[in-house]
Amino acid sequence: MSPEQVELVRDSLRAMGPRLDAVADDFYGRVFAHHPELRAMFPAELAGQREKFAEELQTIVAAIPDLDGFLARARLLGARHGGYGVRAAHYRLFRDLLLESFAAELGEAWTEARASAWRGAYDMVSEAMMMGTTRARQPSLFRR
Ligand code: HEM
Repeated sequence: MSPEQVELVRDSLRAMGPRLDAVADDFYGRVFAHHPELRAMFPAELAGQREKFAEELQTIVAAIPDLDGFLARARLLGARHGGYGVRAAHYRLFRDLLLESFAAELGEAWTEARASAWRGAYDMVSEAMMMGTTRARQPSLFRR
C-alpha cells in the first residue's frame, strides 16, 4: 500500500476514535441481523466485543506499514480464527459490513479514497490470516 493509503486508513480511524464504541455496536448489529448463525461464535456477553473490535482495527492499522513484520503474527491470529470457526466467506462479509458501518458513521467524510484504502488494508491483513488458517487445518501437508 502507498504511504498515502496508509495515512487514509489511519486518519479515518482517528476520525471515528471518540465514537468507536458506537461504531462497534452498529457493526455487530449488522453482522447478527444479516447472519444470526454467527452469534454463537461470540461470547454471550457482548460488552467485551467493543474492546476486541478496537483491537481488530488497531491490528489492521499497525500491520499495513510493516506487513513482513506482521506475517508471523498474522498466521497465529489466523490459526486462532480458524479455531473460532471463521472461514474465508466470513472475512469478506466482515469487510463489507465494516465498511458499511464506517460509511454510516462518517457520512460525507467517508470518501471513495478512504473506502478503497480500507478495503486494501483489510484484504491484505485477512489474506495473511487465512494463510494461517489453511496451515493450521492441514498439518499433515507439512509433516510429509
Ligand atoms: C482482518 C480481519 C480480522 C482481524 C484483524 C481480527 C482480529 C482479532 C483479534 C485481535 C482478536 C482478539 C483475540 C485473538 O487475538 O485471538 C479477535 C477475536 C475474535 N474474532 Fe477476529 N479478526 C478479524 C476477522 C474476524 C472475522 C471475519 C470473524 C468472524 C466472522 C472474527 C471473529 C472473531 C471471534 C469469534 C473472536 C473471539 C471473540 C471472543 O471469544 O471474545 N474475526 N479478532
